[in-house]
Amino acid sequence: MDFVTADNITQQVLEVMQRTPDPRLRQISTALVQHLHAFIREVRPTEPEFEAACAFVVGLGQATSEKKNEVILASDILGASTLITLLNDATPASTPAHDKTDAALLGPFWRAGAPEYASGQSIARGQEAQDVTQTLLVQGTVRSGAGETLADAVVDVWQASPVGLYENQDDAQPDMNLRGRFRTDANGRFAFRSVRPAGYPVPTDGPCGELLRAQRRHPYRPAHLHFMVSKPGHQVLVTQVFADDDERLHTDVTFSVVESLVGRFEQAAAPSGNAYTLHYDLVLQPGEMHFPMPPIP
Ligand SMILES: [Fe+2]
Repeated sequence: MDFVTADNITQQVLEVMQRTPDPRLRQISTALVQHLHAFIREVRPTEPEFEAACAFVVGLGQATSEKKNEVILASDILGASTLITLLNDATPASTPAHDKTDAALLGPFWRAGAPEYASGQSIARGQEAQDVTQTLLVQGTVRSGAGETLADAVVDVWQASPVGLYENQDDAQPDMNLRGRFRTDANGRFAFRSVRPAGYPVPTDGPCGELLRAQRRHPYRPAHLHFMVSKPGHQVLVTQVFADDDERLHTDVTFSVVESLVGRFEQAAAPSGNAYTLHYDLVLQPGEMHFPMPPIP
């Protein structure tokens, strides 16, 4: 090998990468070096900028705890998490929109073992249930991509409260509040009552918050419900459904709002007892049932 120069260093590093026996690791390492060196040649970081970049990465680890993963948050606010989710969607692109449901991020707030409820019951167990102006009835059908309705599918839902907090973030809410699991009936239908979720900010007390402020970006996610839908013989669907009247649909800090995931939160007629209704169908694709790791206990 020649002595190192600015001109030949990229090639030298790439040659070293070629010795990696595992082909996938070799591919990843090679592409990383190519893109990283091209980035450095384009941006030409100064030494203080390089120090600041290293401090940022160290800060991501330091700001990570059992309650918050700053590394995932960084990936979210750079759009990387959503891009990976969208690229991993194995449903053929030619599939008509009504034969598939787009996936969205699991997020940091899913808990395994949410309470099981009978169809039509409410997942609101706290004070928020008293506010009749925010009550929400959610109904839908779980179908297969081939169009058949799926009985006995599990619809696991979780959401933030009307003030934008998940129960594990808020001492005022009972344990497992606004979380629940429902089973579809013989016709694939599910229904549950709740309250409208509010949008909420991602944590801004770490390096990601500093970056968002420097980029003059707000830290909010638009209001949404999380769904995880499963039935043996099908891929687990993890997605989010967004409130169509949220003013931040086009500025979600995590870039999660795919058009098909916007749900109509309709104001219900007065005697129904529900302030709002949402009708949203969920479509599963055939495959293996594999659940994600719960991000929190
Ligand atoms: Fe969420």
